[in-house]
Amino acid sequence: MSDATIDTAIIGGTIATEEGLFPASVGIDDGRIVAVGDAETLPAARESIDARGKIVMPGVVDVHVHFREPGMTHKEDWGTGSAAAALGGVTTVFEMPNTDPPVDTIEHFEIKKAFAEASSHVDFGIYGLLGEHNLDQLPALAEAGVCGYKLFLGNTTGDLPCPSDGAVLEGFEILAELGLRCTIHAENSPILFWRQNKMIAAGRRDPYAHLAARTDVVAVEALNRSAIFAEWTGARIHIAHESCAASLPFIRFFKARGVDMTVETLPQYLYLNAESMLEPGGEVIRMNPPIRQKANQAPLWEGLSDGSIDMISTDHAPHARSEKYGDDIWKIACGFPGVQTSLPLMLDAVSKGRLSMPDCVRLMCGAAARAFGLYGVKGVIRPGADADIVMVDPDATLVLRSEDLASRGKVLPYEGWEVNGKPVLTMLRGKTVAKEGVMVGQAGFGRMVSPSMPAPLPRNTATTIKASLQHRQQPW
Ligand code: DOR
Ligand code: ZN
Repeated sequence: MSDATIDTAIIGGTIATEEGLFPASVGIDDGRIVAVGDAETLPAARESIDARGKIVMPGVVDVHVHFREPGMTHKEDWGTGSAAAALGGVTTVFEMPNTDPPVDTIEHFEIKKAFAEASSHVDFGIYGLLGEHNLDQLPALAEAGVCGYKLFLGNTTGDLPCPSDGAVLEGFEILAELGLRCTIHAENSPILFWRQNKMIAAGRRDPYAHLAARTDVVAVEALNRSAIFAEWTGARIHIAHESCAASLPFIRFFKARGVDMTVETLPQYLYLNAESMLEPGGEVIRMNPPIRQKANQAPLWEGLSDGSIDMISTDHAPHARSEKYGDDIWKIACGFPGVQTSLPLMLDAVSKGRLSMPDCVRLMCGAAARAFGLYGVKGVIRPGADADIVMVDPDATLVLRSEDLASRGKVLPYEGWEVNGKPVLTMLRGKTVAKEGVMVGQAGFGRMVSPSMPAPLPRNTATTIKASLQHRQQPW
């Protein structure tokens, strides 16, 4: 032991990294990791945590949650949503702008930030909205510290209007100059409404009609359009909630062309299938994009292993119970909670040999931090990083139950599932915030994170709207 004294040592666990598993202890001081190595080489620590028999992994980074505050706090608020995150081993969340008011101006951004600072248990990024009406606000939102932007190409909770393609292209021209990533709800709005109206006109109210309205091509087309605009402008994009095997060849194509595009899928697409919508209560899994037929699952798992899909997020989308059940599918709220159950579900895949532990760390921690300019501070256990750490008992069984959810949305399609692998301790910047399924942290300890992205790489800058308006004569 050296002479200096540090705050905490996590002793005797197995560290999980993207490269592999190795036995090591972790030294933590002043909220940061200061050492990783043999216990004897660590400085003396005021507090010691016994990690024998446990896996020690980076805190999960989830770039897709809806915490609903301001405006829809009967569904969730920052306190309940972030407690669910902490209990699930998630230490950084990016929160979506379809709140009321939406995050389309600096004033609205500041309102949300104040709520989050007052009550978040975990660190957070706040998305700005890319809407048709607020293109002029995008640079100021970047300056204020948004983690990225959200573009709704397809309609969902909040019914924010989807911008026209003209507005999207101009928005991407602006974002390409800023360098921040734009997360995209990639569904084709005119097609889905057309089909939905046909279903309604034919008297269809059954859960399957929702899937029929938003059939695969709705997602495939919007992904392609987004990627073409991204390639043209140099805007960085992130495809939210990829649900569809048919998208994968196109993702591979655009990645091979060098488009700066990352992609997430969600545990619910890997574990649930549309066939189960035919069972009683099947309407509960209504979400956008829809959970598709079982045949999509194996290709999605394959996409995770081969890198076509970069990360797991949750689209944690809580609603009141009364909003989730009924016999008219068009009246069922879209989405359900996920931030507390995603790590346990993916650990179960590890225990069954479906996923390696290093891949789990890459998909749940490292990839998201890399895509959004946080890597090194978040997403990794190494000296200099924030001490955001989850201790997992790989041998413990966890029974998933809605009554154990900290979320206000007590709706869980995995009710009663037994999974292998359980987060037993979550630490945020060196402080234990959740332990053995109980919150021990302080509301308001969470802090805003802002990305540090690589230099912007805009393309076709001579023909942007801005450039074209400045030049009466062709500049080329
Ligand atoms: O089902 C969904 N619910 N999909 C989304 O994209 C948004 C979310 C919500 O906000 O409820
Ligand atoms: Zn969402």
